[in-house]
Amino acid sequence: MDLMDRLKEASEYLKKQTDSKPRIGIVLGTGLGGLVKEIQIEKQIPYNFIPHFPISTVESHFGMLIFGKIGDKEVVAMQGRFHFYEGYSMQQITFPLRILKLLGIETLFISNAAGGLNPDYRKGDLMILDDHINLQTSNPLIGPNRNEFGPRFPDMSAPYDKELITKAAQFAAEQNIPAHTGVYVAVTGPNLETRAEYRFLRTIGADVVGMSTVPEVIVANHMGLKTFAISVITDECNPDTLVPVKVEEIIRVATEAEPSLTKILKHLILSL
Ligand code: HPA
Repeated sequence: MDLMDRLKEASEYLKKQTDSKPRIGIVLGTGLGGLVKEIQIEKQIPYNFIPHFPISTVESHFGMLIFGKIGDKEVVAMQGRFHFYEGYSMQQITFPLRILKLLGIETLFISNAAGGLNPDYRKGDLMILDDHINLQTSNPLIGPNRNEFGPRFPDMSAPYDKELITKAAQFAAEQNIPAHTGVYVAVTGPNLETRAEYRFLRTIGADVVGMSTVPEVIVANHMGLKTFAISVITDECNPDTLVPVKVEEIIRVATEAEPSLTKILKHLILSL
């Protein structure tokens, strides 16, 4: 079945399930599902009920599409996302974003856990994404262009919305939340990086490294969505002092920093 037909079937199914008309989409990362508690939930739909939707395979991710309100803003949130390392194609990873666009979203918020490459960044700090580097060896826009969604050669001179970046940085400063602004590099994973790789990633201009977000942001930009993304620094990746990191520790740090991240996202959402 053609992508467009699959997307139509999925979005029509969802439109039958809810009268909600969200203008805001949210993708919640590893250990960062707390924003869901701020949503007055109108409808929750497990991913496996939605036609053609991929199914999340990572234990720390729930697979639930949540419709509801934060304050007076209607939102749709993805609790659980899809990663390239799980074996999905780039098209599968970004399929849900296309659906959210068909449901009417105009702004997209993304969170993720990432390793800190910038030596000034500490474990537990946040980083607002200002730019990214795609090292995932693939791209969700490869293949016939979907003119209904956007141009063949989308501009990437400012993939993250400047106004939202400024607002987030100002709010974090007011609230004494440690938040940097910087560059995210996306790798495939699933292994963490070697010391030589961390050194390389820092040299090419990245401040943090992670295994998600960039495919979604590329597709969001293709579709003209206003995009904001924020990382929790879950481990410090200094090649000279590197210690082994466990995924449990990454999730623990993400969970600890999550309330600050939620505060920022909520503030931005209410300001729209
Ligand atoms: N590397 C890649 N992805 C990550 C890391 C890391 O060090 N920490 C959290 N996600």
